[in-house]
Amino acid sequence: MNTLILEASKKEDIEKAGELLRLGGLVAIPTETVYGLAANALDGNAVKKIYEAKARPSDNPLIIHVEDFAQTMKLTNEMSTEKLEMARSLAEKFWPGPLTIILPKSDIVPEETSGGLDTVALRCPASKAALEVIKAAGVPLAAPSANLSGRPSPTTFEHVLADMEGRVDAILRGEDCVVGVESTIISLAHDTPRLLRPGAVTLEELEALIGHIEADKAVTEKLAESEKPISPGMKYQHYSPSADITILDTSPEAFVTCANERGEFALCYEEDAKALTVPHVTCGTRYDSQKQAARLFSALHELDEQNAEKVLAFMPKRTGVGLAVYNRLVRAAGYKVENPTGDFLLGLTGSTGAGKTTAAKLLEELGCASIDCDQISRSSEVYDEECIKELSEVFGEDIAEDGVLNRKLLAQRAFASDEGKSKLNAITHPRILVAVREEIKKARAAGKKLIFVDAPTLFEASFDRICARIVVVTAPEELRMERIMKRDGISPEQAKSRMNAMKSEEFYVRRADYVIDGRDKAEMEQALEKMVKELHAELERAGVCK
Ligand code: TXA
Ligand code: MG
Repeated sequence: MNTLILEASKKEDIEKAGELLRLGGLVAIPTETVYGLAANALDGNAVKKIYEAKARPSDNPLIIHVEDFAQTMKLTNEMSTEKLEMARSLAEKFWPGPLTIILPKSDIVPEETSGGLDTVALRCPASKAALEVIKAAGVPLAAPSANLSGRPSPTTFEHVLADMEGRVDAILRGEDCVVGVESTIISLAHDTPRLLRPGAVTLEELEALIGHIEADKAVTEKLAESEKPISPGMKYQHYSPSADITILDTSPEAFVTCANERGEFALCYEEDAKALTVPHVTCGTRYDSQKQAARLFSALHELDEQNAEKVLAFMPKRTGVGLAVYNRLVRAAGYKVENPTGDFLLGLTGSTGAGKTTAAKLLEELGCASIDCDQISRSSEVYDEECIKELSEVFGEDIAEDGVLNRKLLAQRAFASDEGKSKLNAITHPRILVAVREEIKKARAAGKKLIFVDAPTLFEASFDRICARIVVVTAPEELRMERIMKRDGISPEQAKSRMNAMKSEEFYVRRADYVIDGRDKAEMEQALEKMVKELHAELERAGVCK
């Protein structure tokens, strides 16, 4: 088959794509998530050709792409007012966009499209080119991702060309996909709404709009042979490049060490690339899940291009868009997750007054180790002779007398400017880290598996590099103010200025794997207990890297 290359920027090419689709042809089109392989959703014969072109099992249903919510009403069957309202508010908030909604199917949808199910998956894409093609075709478009079945989804025109040239009537060349992972799928066809596939519209955002949603087991876990997923696509080993991938569930620092020791390929964060001595492909930065999502499939393709055989990959965060990244990467890895140290180092942080100290105490009661970096930072271990000498060179000989440090004077001088602060940190942080590592060693020797590094300036000091997870304690601003005024006997103005000098709550939360509400001690205890249980379960599941 000769494949026509069309341009999304040309009006006549959009018209041509629409015409080919109306006549029962196959056209690969760009969307904001991944490229789709489109056919007229209402024409069973046209849809059959999609399965052939992709070599896809025909019991795996397709998503129908519509131009608006009104069009979905023609494709769905009657449902309760409650469900209809839910669907409508989801569409109002997230369409056009990367959300697919599953509803009861109308008879006009052929079984080739629905894979024989009595439900139908619907999405109104945000990509301008995709919307224009749907309108030009004048029919709703069934479109799975435009890759060969089992291969990573295509996020660039070149990916599509590599998989589909000669198998489809046309490919519409557009921009690279900005989202980079397939749409979020939510099913309203059950009693409780269910998340079937995570994507750029996050579980947290969906729950904020419609209340509790059950996340399908297949979102995070491998199903047993006997288990039947609600979304048939979830049972296939999806998203796999040729390389054999293993996720390393550990800190960036241990990731780099382990990857370098094993001398294989790495799939890593940009910030870890410099320290790697093995060949590697980068995939966004640690605290930007959206950037990771946008890069993931391209990165998997690049691993193939470089003929990578064995790859050690980073562990994505599993909150927000991170859940979508994790869901794709863990499948690409065939669910292989290893923990190279057999324990977890965790960062415990948050703004002043949020309840971090209470959390640290509770964690110790729960059998974890917690290392108080504040206490270490004031200790004589850190401010030894050598350290005082270096400080005197920068801040003046008079900051110490007979080897005894005048802390007040040092603070006055160091905190007078940002430059002073960073000079102080440059001298003290490495020493604090040495002391923290000593404490970690002791905790490990005592058999502790969950070791918390408790530091208000975890990120500023880059101590997050030694942490596999970040736990953030939060509380409303007024409560934090009240607490620090009482704790330190300071005025509201002083409290306010201290808070202003700290990072915002948003800064912490964006980096967190766990957000613990520090308002109420009993509730905090419950949340921490749940977290500790989860972490132990993860340790049990992950193998230990040899
Ligand atoms: O972002 C996307 O959704 C992309 C672009 C092209 O729009 N499309 C896409 O389609 O990812 P595909 O076919 O690769 O994935 C569709 C998934 C499959 O896992 C399928 O099993 C599930 O949706 N699905 C479709 N209809 C369903 C239904 N009625 N019930 C449950 N799952 C369904
Ligand atoms: Mg797919």
